[in-house]
Amino acid sequence: MIRKQFRMNLLGFLLLIAGCASTTQQSVADKSLYDRLGGKDAITAVVDDFVARVAADKRINGFFAKANVPRLKMMLVDQICEASGGPCKYTGRDMKSAHKGMGITNADFDALVGDLVATLDKFKVGDREKQELLAALGPMRTDIVEK
Ligand code: HEM
Repeated sequence: MIRKQFRMNLLGFLLLIAGCASTTQQSVADKSLYDRLGGKDAITAVVDDFVARVAADKRINGFFAKANVPRLKMMLVDQICEASGGPCKYTGRDMKSAHKGMGITNADFDALVGDLVATLDKFKVGDREKQELLAALGPMRTDIVEK
């Protein structure tokens, strides 16, 4: 009788452990992109490095000659934070209005994405997170590219 009860308790214990393990595994897989990127501080560090790269990139830095860089950085952080499932609210212009009349080409867009990839690689952002972020930004191309 006692042995049987012990067996039942052991079984319950093992089921509990298995349950906890699977919950932990699931919550890692289900974490938002925002959390997997490392939250707002990590996104801010990425945006700082990325904007510095764009500013040094002779292919496209002419576009930013008169830009309000501090505002641009804030807008990018909020946009990436919101798009990745974070708690921020992007309050800037929509992508079509923000880039209207700039005459941005596909090559310009690709150059900017290349700079972003270089930043993500520098910060050792995982492949999955990199792909998810690029997939969130990719569809904006049709609103931004005019030529
Ligand atoms: C996925 C790609 C892009 C994203 C997510 C993006 C995002 C943004 C955001 C959030 C703003 C600020 C909007 C506002 O102030 O209300 C902005 C402005 C701007 N973007 Fe983009 N952009 C992208 C591609 C590009 C490209 C390819 C160029 C040029 C090569 C470019 C040049 C600019 C410039 C010059 C401004 C105006 C900055 C200012 O006037 O202060 N963007 N962009």
